[in-house]
Amino acid sequence: EQERKVEPIGRELVRRLLPRRDPEGHKGTFGKVLCLCGSVGYTGAPVFASRGAVRSGAGLVFLGVPESIWPVAAVKSDEAMPFPLPEAEGRLSLLAEETIRRRAAGCDAVLLGCGLGRGRQTDALVRRLMDLPQPLVLDADGINALAGHMDEWERRRGRVTVLTPHEGEFLRVGGDLSQGRTAAAEDFARRSGAVVVLKGPGTVVAGPDGRCRVNTTGNCGMAKGGSGDVLSGVVLALLGLGMDAFDACCCAVWLHGRAGDLAAQEKGQWGMTPTDLLERLPQALREVT
Ligand code: APR
Ligand code: MG
Repeated sequence: EQERKVEPIGRELVRRLLPRRDPEGHKGTFGKVLCLCGSVGYTGAPVFASRGAVRSGAGLVFLGVPESIWPVAAVKSDEAMPFPLPEAEGRLSLLAEETIRRRAAGCDAVLLGCGLGRGRQTDALVRRLMDLPQPLVLDADGINALAGHMDEWERRRGRVTVLTPHEGEFLRVGGDLSQGRTAAAEDFARRSGAVVVLKGPGTVVAGPDGRCRVNTTGNCGMAKGGSGDVLSGVVLALLGLGMDAFDACCCAVWLHGRAGDLAAQEKGQWGMTPTDLLERLPQALREVT
């Protein structure tokens, strides 16, 4: 399919969009964010996501995980603050809803996804949480849980929502790639009311208001499990700062890709890891702040 010309996301744009860091600021100033991630099969994803947020300037990062993997998350976390949530079969259960709502009420943005796994209860929990008033990032199984439930978008009407699908997740939730990646992301953003970050080489960011841009950073060394989780954390931190969701996503994908390019320069595309991305986010941020 023919791809239309779209405005690129480059260094100068990101430099212009990122807010100054208030020298008088305290932890609250820079955003409190909540990650809801992980399951018995996925103990790395919650750590990649929460560290992505920590490395992107968030003031406080909370991490809710199924109780049986809480000790693992706790051992792996330093800056982020993990807490246990009720589970069934190793995944978050519906009994987690009340605690999640209470925790979310004290936060500026929430991430739902990254290694959640899939099951009747977990999928239902995701759909119930669609009415959270806080800005919400949905990734991976947070997106998959919505497959066949397009009507659930009603629950987020007027609320800030970001979706970060790869092409498989995008198709599962009802995206149509036959029109090309750009038009597909634009179309889904308009239909859902969410900002859509359609990942892959040339990540597309589309807003419900028709804005659309394509990223210029990143490389195939990032095609490894865990890279996407890091991105979710970066998006979450920038949303937690109170940035406009479309602008936050543009900055996040550029920074994430730039960290990937720096990692590739030093380590090469074959051996670089999502941890290398985390370690280079500070340098990527220094280039634009
Ligand atoms: N060029 C540039 N960027 C790329 C490239 C590429 N060739 N390939 C991947 N990336 C970037 C994407 O843009 C995205 O930011 O790497 C990240 C990959 O994110 P995901 O596809 O979400 O991968 P991740 O979640 O880390 O790991 C794979 O997804 O399908 C599920 O269950 C599966 O656990 C698996 C997980
Ligand atoms: Mg992913």
